[in-house]
Amino acid sequence: MCGIVAYIGHREAYPVILKGLKRLEYRGYDSAGVALLNDGLKVFKKKGMVADLEESLIGENLHAHSGIGHTRWATHGEPSDRNAHPHQSSNGKLAMIHNGIIENYTQLKNELQKKGYQFKSDTDTEVLLNFIEDIQKNNQCGLEEAVRIALKRVVGAYVIVLIDQDHPDTLIAARKGSPLVIGVGKGEHFLASDASPIIEYTKEVVYVNDYELAILKPDELILKNLGNEKITPFIQKLDLELAAIEKGGYDHFMLKEIFEQPDTIFDCLRGRLDIHKGTITMAGVQNHMEKLMHANRIIIVACGTSWHAGLIAEYVFEELCRVPVEVEYASEFRYRNPVIRQGDVIIAISQSGETADTIVAIEKAREQGAFIFGVVNVVGSSIARISDAGAYTHAGPEIGVASTKAFTAQLAVLTMIALKIAKEKKTISEERYLQLLNEMHEIPEKLREILPLNEQIRALAEKHKDAKDALYLGRGYNFPVALEGALKLKEISYIHAEGYAAAEMKHGPIALVDEQLPVVFVATRDSYHEKIISNIQEIKARKGKIIAVISEGDEVIPMMAPDIMRVPNADELVAPMLSVIPLQLFAYHIGVAKGYNVDKPRNLAKSVTVE
Ligand code: M6R
Repeated sequence: MCGIVAYIGHREAYPVILKGLKRLEYRGYDSAGVALLNDGLKVFKKKGMVADLEESLIGENLHAHSGIGHTRWATHGEPSDRNAHPHQSSNGKLAMIHNGIIENYTQLKNELQKKGYQFKSDTDTEVLLNFIEDIQKNNQCGLEEAVRIALKRVVGAYVIVLIDQDHPDTLIAARKGSPLVIGVGKGEHFLASDASPIIEYTKEVVYVNDYELAILKPDELILKNLGNEKITPFIQKLDLELAAIEKGGYDHFMLKEIFEQPDTIFDCLRGRLDIHKGTITMAGVQNHMEKLMHANRIIIVACGTSWHAGLIAEYVFEELCRVPVEVEYASEFRYRNPVIRQGDVIIAISQSGETADTIVAIEKAREQGAFIFGVVNVVGSSIARISDAGAYTHAGPEIGVASTKAFTAQLAVLTMIALKIAKEKKTISEERYLQLLNEMHEIPEKLREILPLNEQIRALAEKHKDAKDALYLGRGYNFPVALEGALKLKEISYIHAEGYAAAEMKHGPIALVDEQLPVVFVATRDSYHEKIISNIQEIKARKGKIIAVISEGDEVIPMMAPDIMRVPNADELVAPMLSVIPLQLFAYHIGVAKGYNVDKPRNLAKSVTVE
């Protein structure tokens, strides 16, 4: 939520910041702004996309060697020019950008109002900034000291970056609960919410931790804790190429990322799964095998698409490892009073590794003695760092707001983890283990076979694009796939869609079925096949418009369903990695056909760093 970029050094700051904001626009895109230090502080901001800001600045003098920029996902106050960041302090000398939520901002605002402060925006950010200005004034101290004092009073999550008219050679940043990366260049420093705005200039980065303050000058980086003690910055090398975050000839990131899946799953398996040796190598699992194989219970915490991956993992772990599994929305888990015991293992699943609810759920479980295993895509992200152990999904940067390749990579990693534990626990036969290893090995090639369906699915999308509602049904391993298909459709096309376990349909949702309602069945060949055929008959009898994802060679369902999408045969345990692809493409093409911005659907953000 909200993208942050800042620069200080020998380059022109504005082009660096603008390009960075475009890369971070997936984090929020209802308004954008920059503050530049050039003969005084200049702040420009605009409701709308970064391109709107860019256009509004044509002809302006934007020369500066330091500046801050922001792309917003509104929390406090509607999207508008005045609520856009950066905000300027009352005396006009400071400008600040912020990602997160200041929970006690009303209290701080009341205090400031009593002292005569007036506010131009509805944001918590402007309150915090004036609070900092007020501390500076009262304590006759520098900005760094004022920030430190202010943050001790702040309740909530933040990354803030400040620029000071009186100290043009310094940027000050701080973090608690939202991501912040520093790029270390020669005579220059970059700051951003993730590494994508930085990689073009330097691969040396420092991930700022919670409760740390960064003081940046062109050739100096000082990290401190809130107690004013210096911390040695840990400089890491980024393993990320520029090409990975560009569209590479596709119309949208979402389509590119759907098409990347044969490669991302290949990368995810590479070096881990060896069908010749019959082994799975995952250090994060191997090093903690005792804990994992003796877990009393596995609790999976995640949100959104990652939660759907968790639901499939529940089936896989229970089947292979014979361990009880619960899957929880992180947002619910963190606020209720869950029973967690020594011996419980938490698996936290997250593409971004920055989802606020998942982070807090992890912290809560850890306090009660659980072991935390992270399944994360973004290397170096918060969840990756706070987990006791973990496995990266290696899907590469996912820019489209709708998660696609991260989901299939999560499934691949979770299945490998389950197979490895099951083998060690001997809850799987050698024959079944080797068979599943082989099934996993074949997934990239089978994914490649599905992609040519793209044109057929485009036509199907054209046919159904005017639907007002849709129902997605599946059973067993394909039930969470139905949920995921429905989520993709609503995110991208704004069509109301419900996912349901197919057998539950007759307990309520069947009342929705009429000649207008598209009902999408995820009905690949599995142990529920006969059952789901009966469910299809039930919808057919009520004249619903049946669309079905089926297995190659299935000649029964096509007789009932006019609109079919065929995927290669696969064991039911790995089939979701295939059956979800047509649903991703279907949602994508409906969104495009309706003229929507599928990479940045309304009201959403890629990384949900507020609760
Ligand atoms: O980064 P995470 O996997 O933790 O994100 C969780 C959800 O916010 C995310 O999956 C969201 O539901 C996507 N927009 C789904 O496409």
